[in-house]
Amino acid sequence: MSRAAAKSLRIAVFASGSGSNFQALVEAAQAGKLGGSIELLVCDRPKAKVVERAAAAGVDAFVFRPKEYASREAYEAEIVRHLREREIDLIVMAGYMRIITPTLVEPFYGRIVNIHPSLLPAFPGLNAIGQALEHGVKLTGITVHFVDGGMDTGPIIAQRPVEIADGDSVDTLADKVHPIEHELYPEVVAAICEGRVTLDGRHVRVAGKE
Ligand code: GAR
Repeated sequence: MSRAAAKSLRIAVFASGSGSNFQALVEAAQAGKLGGSIELLVCDRPKAKVVERAAAAGVDAFVFRPKEYASREAYEAEIVRHLREREIDLIVMAGYMRIITPTLVEPFYGRIVNIHPSLLPAFPGLNAIGQALEHGVKLTGITVHFVDGGMDTGPIIAQRPVEIADGDSVDTLADKVHPIEHELYPEVVAAICEGRVTLDGRHVRVAGKE
């Protein structure tokens, strides 16, 4: 997509929990800093705080209970219908704690990003902050990457380091990680919306602003 031709992208955010990253993205969009509009929240937990955040921000939500479907593929097919109905261009995973399948990945490959609280490929999967502490690393961080078929294995777009201090707990480390996520994720989404991100196999180039 050339920069001149870049249109405002229609974004769906997927989240399962508190939604502090969802909130940061909404605020960036409201401030005109995202280059896209957040059209939909997809959430697999009806009681998650992110559902309240979406209502407060006036963002439509598709909230579902995975147990009510015969398979992952069945609820993902329904998600894809919602995405197509709203002509979604970009999926932004922000703490969506479910494995996803080709039903969702294939039609959107190259248009799905995720944020993960470690310097991938270290500590993929659940409880990345706890895994880093347990391992005793001195440096961890945040990764934003394109989503492929694997668990946190897709091409890396951006990373930021976070130092681990003696005595850090999961909570104190999470308190260092989250504010950086809230800064980095809207920046990366804006770069995508502005057509500055190019995916070439495993390699991603992010051009600077003009
Ligand atoms: C974020 O720290 C995000 O990096 C992490 O979940 C948290 C969601 O917080 N994602 C993963 O661990 C994905 N494997 P939030 O609901 O407050 O945005």
